[in-house]
Amino acid sequence: MALWDGRFSGGPGDDMVAFSQSLDTDLRMWREDVEGSRAHVTMLGEVGLLTDAEVATLVEGLSQVEAELGDGRFVPTAAHEDIHMAVEARLTEIVGDVGAKLHTARSRNDQVATDVRLWLRSRLDALAFALTELLEALVVRVEADGGVLIPGFTHLQRGQPILLGHHLLAHAWSVARDLDRVRDARRRMNRCPLGSGAMAGTPHPIDRHRTSELLRFDAPIDNAMDAVAARDHLQEAAGVCAIAMTHLSRQSEELVLWSTEEFGLVRLSETYSTGSSIMPQKRNPDAPELVRGKTGRVAGAVTSLLVMVKGLPLAYNRDLQEDRQALFDALETTTQSARIMAGCWRELTVRSERYEEALKGHFLLATELADFLVTQGVPFRDAHHVSGSIVGHCEARGTNFASLTLEDFVGFHSAFTEEVFEWLDLRAAAERRTSFGGTASVEIARQVTALRKMLA
Ligand code: ARG
Repeated sequence: MALWDGRFSGGPGDDMVAFSQSLDTDLRMWREDVEGSRAHVTMLGEVGLLTDAEVATLVEGLSQVEAELGDGRFVPTAAHEDIHMAVEARLTEIVGDVGAKLHTARSRNDQVATDVRLWLRSRLDALAFALTELLEALVVRVEADGGVLIPGFTHLQRGQPILLGHHLLAHAWSVARDLDRVRDARRRMNRCPLGSGAMAGTPHPIDRHRTSELLRFDAPIDNAMDAVAARDHLQEAAGVCAIAMTHLSRQSEELVLWSTEEFGLVRLSETYSTGSSIMPQKRNPDAPELVRGKTGRVAGAVTSLLVMVKGLPLAYNRDLQEDRQALFDALETTTQSARIMAGCWRELTVRSERYEEALKGHFLLATELADFLVTQGVPFRDAHHVSGSIVGHCEARGTNFASLTLEDFVGFHSAFTEEVFEWLDLRAAAERRTSFGGTASVEIARQVTALRKMLA
């Protein structure tokens, strides 16, 4: 018999019970459900809606339900429909008649909303922690290998010589923004719906500010209908996760690519690789591949949550029961992925000898030639053209800049001087880029200091 069966003479069919239950998803919120009920009971006692004795009995009973759920003595079933009814039903078995007073001045609608916010708040904190670990891992990698000279890519073609630290910091800043977004989302969602009832509030003299305080929310939600109908905090949290996952996915793609034999720029630790069941030589980059793959699922969660709510009339509709699968999956997947990526970066080997290979004999200094001419007063667009002709000249002869004499250079433009040879140094080219945010090591050091400050 369900707790809501008063007006029914029969009951739902077995297929409907199975279809209707949300227990397999919301069982994960059992701690939050007990915590919310405890705060509610405490407040009901303080405003005189329950006697001290009733409060004591209910609070003690809730602790027992909590203990039984914790050690598996109480296992809710689909017949309970959801975690809220499971907790109330078991509590009533334990404490008897007074259990029937627990639901005074609340509804499952505000209870669901409260439980989800409590769950989300703690999981956003866990995600923030994982992203902090990832950021830390990236900064440590910059400190360890940041000075290695690498090709900077655009269109996946080698473009200009940069320091590895510059590239890694670009990833680090995106993670820092994800962290910031998580904190923003947490701040906005940390409001208490409890005591809103079905949507209209309650005639009983409850104190919503008190429950809000007991549950460590910043304030109660102003409008009882908004409190039970709003799901934008779920959409926002999933959106934050989806964006973070795209960042993790871009890191993953580079680790996959860079660890191939063809690129050979990094070696992924064994901890985050797996072998092949048929090809004995394989060491596959499964960790980053899985992160890249899971990114699609998290993006899907955002779509689910947006489409679910679009067109829903206020206030609660049963459709909203479908919100948690997407939310839980998004948060858990993103947190797990951030942790895995942190491990990948922490244990990565940078094959600096291979970078030298990747840099040699290439035209990575073509921009540098143009920039040199600019220092001699040549307009950049003209300088760019001259440098391009030099590349074409070398390419046609199968040589590179190193084979050119001063006469050759002057043949292309009279502004070339002996000094040009100082500009044909890869590391010097990187170190010359001292503009704010440039690849020079002074700029890398400045960014590391800024990120370290953020981490502290
Ligand atoms: N299991 C439901 C959910 O998760 C609980 C709320 C039910 N409310 C209702 N009016 N039927 O959304």
